[in-house]
Amino acid sequence: MSNLVRFGVSLEKELLARFDHHIKGKKYPTRSKAIADLMRREIIQYRWRAGKQVAGAIVFIYNHHRRNIVDRLIDIQHDFSEIVISTQHVHLSHDECLEIVVVKGKPSNVETLADRIRSIKGVEHCAIAFTSTDKL
Ligand code: NI
Repeated sequence: MSNLVRFGVSLEKELLARFDHHIKGKKYPTRSKAIADLMRREIIQYRWRAGKQVAGAIVFIYNHHRRNIVDRLIDIQHDFSEIVISTQHVHLSHDECLEIVVVKGKPSNVETLADRIRSIKGVEHCAIAFTSTDKL
């Protein structure tokens, strides 16, 4: 990391003690790293709320024995081909599959795609993880 800047922050002693306790539990090596992560998270959440381009992954589990489920999942992903970058499929067990759809685009489109996937019978869990497309 180059261009490091030191700056002073004034805040309540009790809040800092709680924060230090919290980041110790999360195994952060330094307070600086924890604060930098918080800042990035805030910026990414803002970008999400503001509808700016984000990158992320839609992760879900389904039972591939369900009738037509694989065809439906492929159809939906093709409908959103402008935001789908890649798909990884993992055979979790004899019945269950895990799929990770990597996406880049507007948050509203990512949410619509996730909603469409979630609405398919047989999809058991569908979550979105997102980050920024810019270096933070
Ligand atoms: Ni599978």
